Amino acid sequence: MPVWLRRKPATASDNAGTARETPNGAPAAETDGPLLSVRGVERSFDVGGARLRVLKGINLELFPKQLVMLKGRSGSGKTTLMNLMGGLDVPTEGTIHFRGRPFHEWNDDRRTEVRRRDIGFIFQAFALMPLLSAYENVELSLRMAGVPRSEWKPRVTYCLEMVGLGKRMSHRPFELSGGEQQRVAIAKAIAHRPSLLLADEPTAELDSQMAAQIMNVFREIVRTENVSICMTTHDPTIMEVADHVYEMVDGVFVDNG
Ligand SMILES: Nc1ncnc2c1ncn2[C@@H]1O[C@H](COP(=O)(O)OP(=O)(O)OP(=O)(O)O)[C@@H](O)[C@H]1O
Ligand SMILES: [Mg+2]
Repeated sequence: MPVWLRRKPATASDNAGTARETPNGAPAAETDGPLLSVRGVERSFDVGGARLRVLKGINLELFPKQLVMLKGRSGSGKTTLMNLMGGLDVPTEGTIHFRGRPFHEWNDDRRTEVRRRDIGFIFQAFALMPLLSAYENVELSLRMAGVPRSEWKPRVTYCLEMVGLGKRMSHRPFELSGGEQQRVAIAKAIAHRPSLLLADEPTAELDSQMAAQIMNVFREIVRTENVSICMTTHDPTIMEVADHVYEMVDGVFVDNG
């Protein structure tokens, strides 16, 4: 049995589609089903009058506190899938449920609301606001998520200390190294306590030592925060820490045993 299946709680029942939601759209109490359920997902694009099939039937389930990785050649469809998982895009066919919410049926406004509160993104190019300090960058994501102001300071400080930047909080991005900027991006992505963190090649620009540090931070986050991480990588050493590695070949997953 694959490792990632064994991590499913014994009491879990597949209740995707029935998860409750609070009136303001914030996540309801924990459910025991998968955090994210992707079924039969296809994504095609119309380019220059032709139809380009990028994803050709993807199935994936992500459970709470899992760290899964996507690997595959350039152009195989990894980023396209991550965009769907995070509700940035919708599939051409198939279903995507995030904590029971049917992302494939929802309009962009509804998905954006969930995204702001419950999903964190880390992209390869760090996506920090250049004129804001590390502290202010992290604070911004709490503000966007509607977290009460009284919680900002302790949470920002905690997150920046967790990524080892307690002494760099007032630095702006250009006053930080590449690895430090990436760690600010991680602090920013987790500050609002998302249940899903999506990271597209978060270590691609970093040397191996820094990449290992980032992976330690990820493992620590999975251990201490109630978050699941899905990331893409090309680095075989990094894949060793995953609960499961999905290999994408030409828009489908191949079983890599
Ligand atoms: N919006 C779009 N319109 C048309 N084609 C697209 C669009 N987005 C992605 N594609 C095509 O889909 C294919 C998969 O792209 P994707 O970015 O998902 O690959 P990837 O696996 O993330 O590659 P890499 O490892 O280089 O990041 C590519 O051939 C790309 O040109
Ligand atoms: Mg990509």
